[in-house]
Amino acid sequence: ADALKIGIAGLGTVGASLAKILVERRDMLTTTCGRPIEIVAITARSKGRDRGVDLSSAEWFDDSVALARDAKIDVFVELMGGSGDPAYSAVKAALSRGVHVVTANKALLAAHGVELAVIAEQNGCILNYEAAVAGGIPVIKALRESLTGNTISRVYGIMNGTCNYILTKMEKEGLSFEACLKEAQRLGYAEADPAFDIEGNDTAHKLSILTTLAFGTKIAADDIYLEGITNISIDDIRAAADLGYRIKLLGVAQKTDTGVEQRVHPTMVPLDSVIAQVDGVTNAVAIESDILGELLMVGPGAGGNATASAVLGDIADIAKSRPGAQTVPVLGRPAAALQPYKRAQ
Ligand code: NDP
Ligand code: HSE
Repeated sequence: ADALKIGIAGLGTVGASLAKILVERRDMLTTTCGRPIEIVAITARSKGRDRGVDLSSAEWFDDSVALARDAKIDVFVELMGGSGDPAYSAVKAALSRGVHVVTANKALLAAHGVELAVIAEQNGCILNYEAAVAGGIPVIKALRESLTGNTISRVYGIMNGTCNYILTKMEKEGLSFEACLKEAQRLGYAEADPAFDIEGNDTAHKLSILTTLAFGTKIAADDIYLEGITNISIDDIRAAADLGYRIKLLGVAQKTDTGVEQRVHPTMVPLDSVIAQVDGVTNAVAIESDILGELLMVGPGAGGNATASAVLGDIADIAKSRPGAQTVPVLGRPAAALQPYKRAQ
């Protein structure tokens, strides 16, 4: 069968890991997907930088929007980050000409997810974003596909690997906040601007996406009570432990009689709970629903390979799909069926 041609914009922590896996596992992926996946176009900020993988057969573009608009590709893979341009214009350019999109960019989806879903639907495109929430954990698939027909009452969890890594290291190794953050950056967990991690915005972006999938309301990333971990000291962590608790940065979304409540803040969780045992870069997402009951998913929440694994799964889903076949609605239901967001009183 014809190769699936992809263009990758962004060759940093996630993009370079993805490219390496696609090159090294080409034969295995060809067998699994029924056709080869070929990287035919690439872009990043710096052309000359060694990405640790031979991409010389791919066409280099100086501009990601030009790649999305002009490259001969079936899938545009956006791994640059940022809620604005060039990511926003590039994704729109791809979808508008019928090119499928895979992205890990939760900031973009939190800001423009509904608009992009509409453009994808109008053009018969797939827009996949498993890596945007909780790294390698297949939580989008769970909410978008597996739990269809369930009524969901609550979604909550640890959704930022950098914060959980910092809180764990501070407690277990007595290291300073700043030293832990530096290490999280070195390991490729943190956002380009780590303020998004430690001030809770990244968790809020992810939570807003889960809220939409869980409750069928429009994305409302600005309507989230927000408190990060910048004020948490080692003394706070020790005081919590003395009382039988551990401090975790949680995102919580729940349905009440009056609307939807969304909040992100450091939370004292009992030491004997499963969530309290989730250490380091690991994330955990709990989903409470009426048919299934409580589902708890725990796994790697950030880092090159963990994230690339989810991006790869999204690309493979497209490789296995056939033109004209039914696609999964981007936001779990057709965009026109999303309800206005109403904040709980
Ligand atoms: P990096 O900062 O490591 O990589 C970003 C890449 O995008 C770099 O290759 C950079 O080029 C390129 N880039 C940045 N701006 C531009 C631009 N204007 N035009 C062209 N290329 C550009 O980020 P990550 O790989 O960590 O993250 C990528 C995306 O994945 C983000 O949306 C992030 O939120 C998301 N994500 C990241 C996770 C992680 O663990 N790292 C986990 C889950 C999601 P150059 O290399 O030349 O500087
Ligand atoms: N900076 C994010 C985190 C990357 O630490 O969780 C994964 O989305």
